[in-house]
Amino acid sequence: MCGIVGYIGNREAAPILLSGLHRLEYRGYDSAGLALLETLGAEVRSSGFSSNGKRPVDNGQRTSDNGQRTTGLVIEKCKGKVTALETLAQSTPHHGTVGIGHTRWATHGVPSDTNSHPHTDQSERIAIIHNGIIENYLSIKERLAARGHTFRSETDTEVLAHLIGEYYSESEIRGTGLDSHVSELGHRSPDAGHRTLTEAVRLALNEVVGTYGIAVVSADSPEEIVCARNGSPLVLGVGDGEYFVASDASAIIAHTRQVIYLADNEMATITRSGIKTRTISADGLSGGNEEITKPVERIEMELEAIEKGGYEHFMLKEIHEQPRTITDAMRGRILEEEGNVKLGGLQNHLQELRRAPRLVITACGTSYHAGLIGKYMIEQYARVPVTIEYASEFRYRNPIIEEGDVMFGISQSGETADTLAAMREGKRKGALALGIVNVVGSTIARESDGGVYIHAGPEIGVASTKAFTSQLTVLSLLAIMLGRMRHLSVVDGRAMIHALRELPEKVQKTLDDTERQIMELAESFKNASNFLYLGRGYNYPVALEGALKLKEISYIHAEGYPAAEMKHGPIALIDENMPVVVVAPQDDVYEKVLSNIQEVRARKGHVIAIATEGDTKIHALAEQVIYIPETLAMLTPILSVIPLQLLSYYIATARGCNVDQPRNLAKSVTVE
Ligand code: F6R
Repeated sequence: MCGIVGYIGNREAAPILLSGLHRLEYRGYDSAGLALLETLGAEVRSSGFSSNGKRPVDNGQRTSDNGQRTTGLVIEKCKGKVTALETLAQSTPHHGTVGIGHTRWATHGVPSDTNSHPHTDQSERIAIIHNGIIENYLSIKERLAARGHTFRSETDTEVLAHLIGEYYSESEIRGTGLDSHVSELGHRSPDAGHRTLTEAVRLALNEVVGTYGIAVVSADSPEEIVCARNGSPLVLGVGDGEYFVASDASAIIAHTRQVIYLADNEMATITRSGIKTRTISADGLSGGNEEITKPVERIEMELEAIEKGGYEHFMLKEIHEQPRTITDAMRGRILEEEGNVKLGGLQNHLQELRRAPRLVITACGTSYHAGLIGKYMIEQYARVPVTIEYASEFRYRNPIIEEGDVMFGISQSGETADTLAAMREGKRKGALALGIVNVVGSTIARESDGGVYIHAGPEIGVASTKAFTSQLTVLSLLAIMLGRMRHLSVVDGRAMIHALRELPEKVQKTLDDTERQIMELAESFKNASNFLYLGRGYNYPVALEGALKLKEISYIHAEGYPAAEMKHGPIALIDENMPVVVVAPQDDVYEKVLSNIQEVRARKGHVIAIATEGDTKIHALAEQVIYIPETLAMLTPILSVIPLQLLSYYIATARGCNVDQPRNLAKSVTVE
């Protein structure tokens, strides 16, 4: 969701923050802002923010009486993309070597200058950026308002800023006549006036209910950034005499590859000389406020992996990366001779997997569609029952987990709040919790009992493409492995492996052969108001995925349906204005799908078929046919989804939509 970046060191912070924000923009892009700690000379510089949020205002912060330099807090923020913030920041350059920056994806309060982060406390001396949701912010806000606090924005984050301010500054409380209410907070100690920023943040966080990744700076403590995490990822970067904080590593890898991952209920105080980490509150594992030592880890991520590499959009680049990413998902995992695979992250759990009476898959969005196909694969080849459920549903009902059940959470980001919560719920009920994850070191990867990385590399386009086909590749490996533990013969295992090995080349051929045709198709259908996607068996979830891709980036209403279900309702929608994409490779249900195409044609719908090369029969029925190479039925989704990704991309660009940053969406959904 929102993106966070912070810097403390000896270089100018603003350019580092702005370039970090550009890299994070895919996480949220309705507004952006930064806060800098600026050393002031005799001249008064700006501090705080006017109520319309557009320009910094002077909050009266002066040099000290003896003429020493003091620190001012400068905030620049505005509605819109990071480029708008850049323009704003360049119009009045500010200098400082400590600062924090944020890109927002609105939860509380519409996108506006005022609701943008950073937010300040009552004194306008403390600034905070926040990713997550403070659930009890209204009650805290009421209490603070009753004590004289005034709020400029509609956000939950501003309330947290004020709460931290209360804990931090006794003089502020005296100055605003609030001291008589201090005891109501119930946490203030007699020496409150001498509290460190870290302690003030920690005490405030002990009052809030919700999720957060935050970074806080204060003009009264200008040599530090305090950050904390509960439910929203934060990674700390360790450079040479400089330190960083970010919501994901892409914001800082241009500067360092040495990182520390904060876990939930942990906070850090970052100064120019190092990082100190501690727990926030007592949680059954720790007593709270305990110093902890965190390992410094190295991240392997190349800078070019997070750049566009000559493509117009990340989404198109990622679609074209698929021959390589599918290869990477298989690399080093195939045992050709044995007709089997070896998945390193599952090696410690082979017994449990062999004995599992049932697998439970949980995921959201595109990852859920991959999971649905995984269920079909595993049930067909390993004959183990698989239940699949949206993580958001699983977590809030009372799901049944029985002795020996093994759970798989599928997530590109490894940070999706619902998937993480569903995994935790499954674990709590006794399931072995395994992850199928892309982002190395992400929360789901770290909290799982084991799992498999899909190795697709950073996926920046908000619409997931390459992660989907890599997830499917890993799920087919899993189906082979589970099958070989049970009923699958070595010969069949080898045949599946052989088909898998041929896939990257076939994906490349699909891209080469279909892209031009799809560009033309997109021109003809770009003004459609609705689309229907149909598929059966392995390709029913592909229909769901095709519809999701189209609606999320082109804003055309689209529905995915099991082809045979069409008769039970959606057929009423079909007329001469309805394009119907039918995924119809030559598999077991091919003939049935042909009948479904006939039904659409009889009602004058326009059929665009995705069919197997050489299929002449379908040519007579469909208006347009896009051919994909032949492969094993189980693997057809990896090929059939490629034209659907391209179709949504080219329709969206033909409509002038920003495909990498579709409206209202954010890449990793870290709020529920
Ligand atoms: C769609 C899309 C989303 C994600 C979903 C789950 O293109 O990207 O539907 O698939 O938010 O995200 P992850 O896989 O990160 O858990």
